[in-house]
Amino acid sequence: MKLRQRLEKVLPPSMLQYAPRKFEVVGDICILKLRESLFPYASKIGEAFLGAVPGVRVVAVRVGKTTGEERVAPLLVVAGEQRTETVHREHGYLFKVDLSKVYFTTKLSFEHQRVASQVKNGEVVLNMFSGIGGFSIPIAKRANCTVYSVDVNPHAIRYLEENVKLNRVEGKVIPILGDAATFTPPSLVDRVLMPLPLKAYSYLNHAVRIIKKGGTIHYYDVVVEKGGSPLEELKLRVTGRLRELGVDAEVVFSRRMRSIAPRRSLAVLDVKVDGD
Ligand SMILES: C[S@@+](CC[C@H](N)C(=O)[O-])C[C@H]1O[C@@H](n2cnc3c(N)ncnc32)[C@H](O)[C@@H]1O
Repeated sequence: MKLRQRLEKVLPPSMLQYAPRKFEVVGDICILKLRESLFPYASKIGEAFLGAVPGVRVVAVRVGKTTGEERVAPLLVVAGEQRTETVHREHGYLFKVDLSKVYFTTKLSFEHQRVASQVKNGEVVLNMFSGIGGFSIPIAKRANCTVYSVDVNPHAIRYLEENVKLNRVEGKVIPILGDAATFTPPSLVDRVLMPLPLKAYSYLNHAVRIIKKGGTIHYYDVVVEKGGSPLEELKLRVTGRLRELGVDAEVVFSRRMRSIAPRRSLAVLDVKVDGD
């Protein structure tokens, strides 16, 4: 039976219009967002998704906002097996993750590949906010390189360590538990990843201290669509800050990745720092 028919069976007609249309599947866990008026029907809605979405064994509802340094939103399992851990496959890479403890989204899958495809053999990379390895694992799989991977969330680092083994990139991805602002790699790096939108800006001073001349920063932030050219404004803001920090920089690539809220989009800048 199709999802719509299943929902029609469990929801009063007046509520049907509020049933979730979008959902995310990570491994075998289906994640829904529900408006509060639907909370009393959560487990019935969960059963409907469980029956209708192929491969799903757990249905969970986000019951709060993404908060805290760890960027994790509270999750409530409403149908299926009582667990929040799963193994997600993305472009052939395996990511073991507990969605109640660490940040992970399937929505970065294109970006993971886009960045990984730029890394060359012999590079030293610093991923300042690695999570469970969404960028670090594909980078290490594709190039003969070293990826220092820092995260402040101990659960993220534990899963990253597991993912290093699962994907057989031992010795190439180096997991480090700690604050990205205080980790200094043993040598200057060719590339710095800064996937912490809204906060990455305040870590630019550290990035310029540890990057080689001619290196690349992958910088993530949120742009507000309020007329004008928000992406151009972001470029000016970031290159301006880098100039203040004594570094000439050129944005060699930029794009809006996706909308994350009304009039708010996630954006990336690839910034080349001066090579003389
Ligand atoms: C948006 S998530 C990263 C997503 C990850 N790169 C991926 O592709 O799946 C941001 C991560 O930054 C970590 N974080 C936040 N503040 C940090 C800090 N000061 N130092 C290191 N990691 C930090 C969080 O724990 C979280 O795992």
